[in-house]
Amino acid sequence: MAEESVSSQAVRNFLGPIKDLWDDPSVSEILINGPNDIFIERGGKLHKTDKKFPDEDALRAAVNNIAQSVGRRITFEEPRLDARLPDGSRVAVVIPPCARNGTTVSIRKFTQTKISFKDYIAMGSISADGAQFLDICMFLGKNLLVSGGTGSGKTTLLSLLCSRIPRGQRVIVIEDSSELKINYEHVVFFETKQSDSLGKGEVSIRDLLKSSLRLRPDRIIVGEVRSAEALELINAMNTGHKGCMGTVHANSPEDAIVRLEALAAGGDGKLSERALQYQVSAAIDLIVQISRYSDGSRRVGAISEVLGQNKDGTYNIRPIFQMSRLVKRPDGKLDGQMEPSGELPSFMQEILDNNLPFPASKFTKPGAA
Ligand SMILES: Nc1ncnc2c1ncn2[C@@H]1O[C@H](COP(=O)(O)OP(=O)(O)OP(=O)(O)O)[C@@H](O)[C@H]1O
Ligand SMILES: [Mg+2]
Repeated sequence: MAEESVSSQAVRNFLGPIKDLWDDPSVSEILINGPNDIFIERGGKLHKTDKKFPDEDALRAAVNNIAQSVGRRITFEEPRLDARLPDGSRVAVVIPPCARNGTTVSIRKFTQTKISFKDYIAMGSISADGAQFLDICMFLGKNLLVSGGTGSGKTTLLSLLCSRIPRGQRVIVIEDSSELKINYEHVVFFETKQSDSLGKGEVSIRDLLKSSLRLRPDRIIVGEVRSAEALELINAMNTGHKGCMGTVHANSPEDAIVRLEALAAGGDGKLSERALQYQVSAAIDLIVQISRYSDGSRRVGAISEVLGQNKDGTYNIRPIFQMSRLVKRPDGKLDGQMEPSGELPSFMQEILDNNLPFPASKFTKPGAA
């Protein structure tokens, strides 16, 4: 641990002109578009700063030092870097000639503050009933996808959900670079490995998923499903691994499931479209859609259930909770809350059988008789 903190301190020192942004807990992201153009994200909104690096060489030197500190290199031949710093922050870099603005860096700072479900509700990111319903889905071991755009809060929400898994299970987490912060007793973390300079030794999410299946998982969590591993994940979900979860980049629950299908199709060309669609719809129980709104807030916009397929082959996806109409307040903030859609989940009986404190009345649409 001591070694880690020294190293984080060193990284901070490389970033001389922006040290105070690094130290400012209200800054969540730092975006450097060449030496003279530095933006930050604060409270979900982007702001331009007056910070500058002396010149491109100074910025490049800082980036080289960061790369070295994590045992990597960034060069003309290898002009991209995606790394996790020892303190958990994430750095992505692209340098010229690929980056026209000059060395381009994005730093997603590791947030020390652990968000609890309670905070999440207090921030207005989800309604209390929505959160309780998700909690119940965790208890019942529903297979769930968190869907959202870039930086919408998928990883944060997945971490929260993982922390609500009932005790006594073995959870295996697979990620490209370790980000999920999970407060749970029995959890194994796997991280992918890039190939060496000869192009050998790569270990992908798919490889790790295959290994996980032999390591007695109760639940498998894939940080981000972005490639052919979607097929193994679907298979795992359909072969008795209840409560598997992952995130996927998509703008709606419908898009998320179609994307999952497309990714899985890349994993096995031999499976017919119909067979694959059937497996996808059988595997996924729920999709939680999260979005970043125009006032900078991040909120769960829908909790939808996947109910199989329609006659025309499309997926039958039904919202259980969804965002009401949002109204802009004079201060620019959006007012509104997730509300029940009026539909009962297909597993209402399971909720009752388990004596879970979520009566059917909680699914009644406000204003409905
Ligand atoms: N509900 C929330 N309210 C406010 N800020 C949030 C919320 N959820 C996440 N954040 C912040 O938003 C940023 C992005 O969050 P996160 O990494 O979870 O997003 P992501 O969708 O996984 O991003 P990516 O697309 O890069 O994987 C982080 O700084 C995080 O602390
Ligand atoms: Mg993420």
